[in-house]
Amino acid sequence: MALLFEPIKIRSIELKNRIVVSHMCQYSSEDGFANDWHLVHLGSRAAGGAGLVFTEATAVSPEGRITPSDLGIWKDEHIGFLNRITTFIKAHGAVSAIQLAHAGRKASHHVPWKGSTVLTSEEGAWQTLAPSAVPYKESEPLPKGMTKDDIQKVINDFSDAAKRAMEAGFKIIEIHAAHGYLLNEFMSPLSNVRTDEYGGSFENRIRLLLEIVEATRKVWTEEYPLFVRISATDWVKGGWTDNDSVALAAILKDKGVDVIDCSSGGNSAAQKIPVGPLYQVPFAEKIKKETGILTGAVGIITTAHEAEQILINQQADLIVIARQFLRDPYFPLHAARELNVDVPWPEQYERAKKY
Ligand SMILES: Cc1cc2nc3c(=O)[nH]c(=O)nc-3n(C[C@H](O)[C@H](O)[C@H](O)COP(=O)(O)O)c2cc1C
Repeated sequence: MALLFEPIKIRSIELKNRIVVSHMCQYSSEDGFANDWHLVHLGSRAAGGAGLVFTEATAVSPEGRITPSDLGIWKDEHIGFLNRITTFIKAHGAVSAIQLAHAGRKASHHVPWKGSTVLTSEEGAWQTLAPSAVPYKESEPLPKGMTKDDIQKVINDFSDAAKRAMEAGFKIIEIHAAHGYLLNEFMSPLSNVRTDEYGGSFENRIRLLLEIVEATRKVWTEEYPLFVRISATDWVKGGWTDNDSVALAAILKDKGVDVIDCSSGGNSAAQKIPVGPLYQVPFAEKIKKETGILTGAVGIITTAHEAEQILINQQADLIVIARQFLRDPYFPLHAARELNVDVPWPEQYERAKKY
């Protein structure tokens, strides 16, 4: 049996295989609402055989959106359609998960197909928030350095969103602390120059993430897993490092986090990333080996054999795939065939399984 198709149980939740649909912003919402696009997009990947299907970064507040078209979970009205999606995903044998996010200083932008540039006030720009009034790029408007009240509101927003996620039927939450969004901005010395207890030392810079993890764990039942996505390195001298990530992962493990989803970069325009196949896998491996926490490997993993080898090498526990799933929603069904594993196809598609 290929390891890629070995089930894994995390707390009370069993995944039928190790293949995870990575979070992918669809920028297709109005006022944060999920709609038919999200149902079809996420639903096809569940029908395609993934073990775990993640929503895109789902904003915990309107100001935490990257663009006005982001998915959201900041009000109870959002729950209904999300529930329709989780029900469909479950009916197709996959587990549904939600990534909770706040974009921080990277909020208030156009969608990628309109250039990802900052919104103007005529276009509905809003004041972005950050640990410090330091922009991502010199050319961008200054974010507001957050007050203690702003910080408390964000903690409450995450925990309220977690309650709604439970009602919507999600079984796993991931807190987005990567890619230069708000929590990553607090963690990195490149974006956090605060002088209070949320800035300066490593302990202070990770404080907000820990407070959010604690607040989320309080409302998210012990039976369900909690993941955190981090940028394992800023890829910039003087920034957040892989050793910081190991230290953080050990602390998160003690706080009830089950999986570290190991991405990288996104917090500095000066980053130099050696992008290539499997380039972030060493972070998942290092964090797993040095802390014993479960890890997800992500980043240009495109074939069944690559995924299988990562598991054989014990570099990660979950294989998190984004763009290959855009090319092929049935990647798991095809991977099973390549690895000579017989997995069930949707009954409606069985006639296509052999010829
Ligand atoms: C269209 C698209 C949208 C994305 N949106 C998110 C997101 O919402 N949250 C996140 O953590 N990463 C996001 N990412 C990053 C992916 O989850 C993944 O980490 C990255 O694409 C590398 O994996 P891949 O090489 O398999 O695509 C996005 C990537 C793509 C291609």
